[in-house]
Amino acid sequence: MALYGVLGDIHGNLEALEAVLAALDARGARELLCVGDVIGYNADPDACVALLRSRGARVIAGNHDLIGTGRLGFERCSNKARYSLSRTRRTLSAKSAAWLGRLPASRLVEDTIALVHGGVRDVQLYMTTAPHIRRNAELLRADFPTARACFFGHSHEQKLYQVAGSEVRELPIDARIELSREHLYFINAGSVDAQRKRAERLAECALFDSRAWTLEFLRAPYNSVATEAKAAAAGYRIPVFTDWLYTWRRRLLAA
Ligand SMILES: [Fe+2]
Ligand SMILES: [Fe+2]
Repeated sequence: MALYGVLGDIHGNLEALEAVLAALDARGARELLCVGDVIGYNADPDACVALLRSRGARVIAGNHDLIGTGRLGFERCSNKARYSLSRTRRTLSAKSAAWLGRLPASRLVEDTIALVHGGVRDVQLYMTTAPHIRRNAELLRADFPTARACFFGHSHEQKLYQVAGSEVRELPIDARIELSREHLYFINAGSVDAQRKRAERLAECALFDSRAWTLEFLRAPYNSVATEAKAAAAGYRIPVFTDWLYTWRRRLLAA
């Protein structure tokens, strides 16, 4: 049992990852759990991989990790994601790609903590509604019968859902939360990368104590201007004309 730092959706954003790790270090979290999407969108995929590896983080694969290493296609990607992932494929080192290629699709920690990226069986599912959580709670009970907390990512928003039977309740996340051992929880620690957030750009993560069964959501400021300048200079931002071209190619292929 331990105090875990839970993070995900880093997307090659080194400044945000460093900010989150500093915040977790300050709170004494030595163990790291990562729900995937280490790469994509931003200019430091190799540095983010190296930092997670140096910290011994337990990591699973997100859809961007699969697409960026050629194990999944671009079919369900937005134009922005497709463009930056094409760039990532060209720049990612063989060493990082090999490590990303070995990441499991999901994993169980301490028998009670499950890590998935999108849905329990669909890495590209956005779990954003109570029916999504209800359906995935059924899948979790089938695939990980001992799990009581399921951390997920992909939708890039800090969320906490409590599941009791078929009843799903979204709970507030603004304080340290004592979880009940009677219920099942679905938890999104948020997105380390905040470059595409419209509101304040803060790197998000969570602190989970598996001894006390408590949860706290954290947000850390980082230098998002530097991240954006680096991503633009390194060719990770889609030009307007290419964006238009991708849209029309998709429409023609769908016709
Ligand atoms: Fe993501
Ligand atoms: Fe994702």
